[in-house]
Amino acid sequence: MTVDWVGACRDWRGSHASTEATLVRHLDTPRRILDAAGGTGREAVRLALRGHEVTVLDPAGAMLTTAMDHADAAGVADRVHVVQAMAEDAPDLFGTHDFDVVLCHNLLQYAQDRVAMLRALVAPLRPGGLLSVLSPTPASGDPFACAADEVVADLAAVGANVLARYDLPRESDQPAALVHLIARH
Ligand SMILES: C[S@@+](CC[C@H](N)C(=O)[O-])C[C@H]1O[C@@H](n2cnc3c(N)ncnc32)[C@H](O)[C@@H]1O
Repeated sequence: MTVDWVGACRDWRGSHASTEATLVRHLDTPRRILDAAGGTGREAVRLALRGHEVTVLDPAGAMLTTAMDHADAAGVADRVHVVQAMAEDAPDLFGTHDFDVVLCHNLLQYAQDRVAMLRALVAPLRPGGLLSVLSPTPASGDPFACAADEVVADLAAVGANVLARYDLPRESDQPAALVHLIARH
């Protein structure tokens, strides 16, 4: 199935406020965060405004340009960095302890091999670091949805233990359309 990335990013805009609210429960001090598939930087800018240092990784150069425009407009360009690459490239791009937190929001469901993608994303995570995964569930009706239990199993396969699970709405009329998992690696 071909993915319309611009459309997909537009579809998921409504999830950012609720995801931020659940994620920040797990971020006590300023953290080094990798936002894999960070797109136009909407989550990155929210987190940078809270004092975190965020690297947005995405293969789409135009989205990264927009991400830096958003960061500039919000006055946090010094805390937002962009890298044009695929999530799968993370082990070659970063050191093994470079990040305290890695976000994989609205990306995993598109992976051909979800475990391989997660393995790449935990590579630059420091020991004890957090992996935050947001994915649509079958309740969303999204053709790429996967069951939350499958994502939990994928995380276990890369040595990440789920600390918290949040069932979130995508839109007000779609309760539990998204699952947000916070796992420790
Ligand atoms: C649905 S958007 C999600 C954006 C953001 N994370 C969010 O939750 O709103 C998917 C993003 O994944 C990016 N993308 C597609 N394949 C990717 C890959 N293999 N590695 C990293 N990013 C990828 C696309 O360019 C797009 O920006």
